[in-house]
Amino acid sequence: MRASPTLLSLAAVAAVLAGCSKPASAPDQAATPTEPASAPAAPTPDQIKASLATLPAPYNAGDIENGKRRFTQCAACHTAGEGGPNMTGPNLYGIFGRKAGTAANFSYSDGLKAAGWTWDAAHIDTWITDPRAVIPGTRMSFAGLKDPKERADVIAYLKVATSAPGK
Ligand code: HEC
Repeated sequence: MRASPTLLSLAAVAAVLAGCSKPASAPDQAATPTEPASAPAAPTPDQIKASLATLPAPYNAGDIENGKRRFTQCAACHTAGEGGPNMTGPNLYGIFGRKAGTAANFSYSDGLKAAGWTWDAAHIDTWITDPRAVIPGTRMSFAGLKDPKERADVIAYLKVATSAPGK
């Protein structure tokens, strides 16, 4: 373990997460609904560590700074923070432990509505590798992240960004 660099990077990520409900700057944000005014407090480095510790290997060792950078691809369609709007894709707050296809007020494909599983790191990993291989009729038009390390980093970031601090 790289103890001190990890702590430093967790502190940096805590700072970065403070602004995590803002949509990434993308050229086509015109239709983005207004974000709720109150941004949630950023998790502390200890809370980030506790959050990551709820994940199995290799996700618990994911690089959440890199994951945040990779998540900008997802952020074209998804918000992660509590109370964030649905966009092209559903808001992902609370996705770990949430039954597939059940975000409020989002119109899912029939395939995802019928999926029946509950999202955990392994399911999300398979999903973001190639969503169409999992559900051929999915509305998630995303080619997939082919690099397992990048997926683990995104999943680590996603856990922290979509969970109550320290959960
Ligand atoms: C082009 C838009 C787009 C991009 C990019 C995208 N998604 Fe999605 N995502 C969607 C849509 C649309 C759905 C709903 C799919 C359906 O109903 O079949 C979805 C569904 C999901 C779900 C299931 C949600 C639920 O409530 O069951 C997860 C998890 C998810 N996406 C994660 C990601 C991650 C992580 C990334 C980046 C690696 C990503 N998505 C990139 C549009 C997108």
